[in-house]
Amino acid sequence: MTARLAIDASHLTRTFSSEGKPVHALVDVSLQVYAGEHVAIVGKSGAGKSTLLNLIGALDRGYAGELKVFGQHLKALPDRALSQFRNRQIGFIFQAFNLLPNLSVGENVLLPASFGVDLDHRQLRHRAHQLLDDFGLGDRFGQMPTQMSGGERQRVAIARALLLRPPILVCDEPTGSLDTQTASHILQVLKDIQHQHGTALVVVTHDPAVAAAAGRIIALDKGRVVSSDDYPVARSSP
Ligand SMILES: Nc1ncnc2c1ncn2[C@@H]1O[C@H](COP(=O)(O)OP(=O)(O)OP(=O)(O)O)[C@@H](O)[C@H]1O
Ligand SMILES: [Mg+2]
Repeated sequence: MTARLAIDASHLTRTFSSEGKPVHALVDVSLQVYAGEHVAIVGKSGAGKSTLLNLIGALDRGYAGELKVFGQHLKALPDRALSQFRNRQIGFIFQAFNLLPNLSVGENVLLPASFGVDLDHRQLRHRAHQLLDDFGLGDRFGQMPTQMSGGERQRVAIARALLLRPPILVCDEPTGSLDTQTASHILQVLKDIQHQHGTALVVVTHDPAVAAAAGRIIALDKGRVVSSDDYPVARSSP
């Protein structure tokens, strides 16, 4: 059986304007990611990694080119339908976490459940508790994220992205604020999800160990896909 195509990007170009000058954040980027695949995206700061994730994560539609997620042309969806599609299909772990400061930890994790989700809310609450427990934050459900450390907030953001078990997980430096041991635990959690649920994992990272855990590495430089040979990473055990 051939694997299902999760992400199909053709000739993506994203140009920003900064002080009247164009910034070519992505230039003619094409890539495909299959269900169950684990892909790392690497490249220097400013290479266009977060820009690419924002497109794949259906958060930015100001691009040229074509982007399909599970066969759905993202450009063809009106705003509301796009939000709904994103909420169910794509878990997004932001580089800056993006927790809502006026909501508690538990409310943040449960946020995806509040957008027209037809799942049992008691079950989702249970799942939220379980995820926080898995991440060593079992007793923090009622705490405010402003009272937490960066690494703790990062784990809350990961729990939120996993709540609805989306078939695609897009992660921008998911372990950037974590110590080595916690980072390797989180990475293992993501790998387990990939294997158990056939989730497509797309992980932006500067950490060679995190990149090495992926099945494939895509390197960006100045907004273009380049050979990943310049980013040698030790292969981890299969
Ligand atoms: N909203 C924006 N307006 C103008 N320029 C932008 C905007 N967003 C990103 N850029 C520019 O696009 C380029 C790519 O930025 P991007 O955030 O994708 O880099 P990155 O690879 O994620 O870097 P890092 O590793 O530092 O997170 C940079 O030159 C950045 O300054
Ligand atoms: Mg970035």
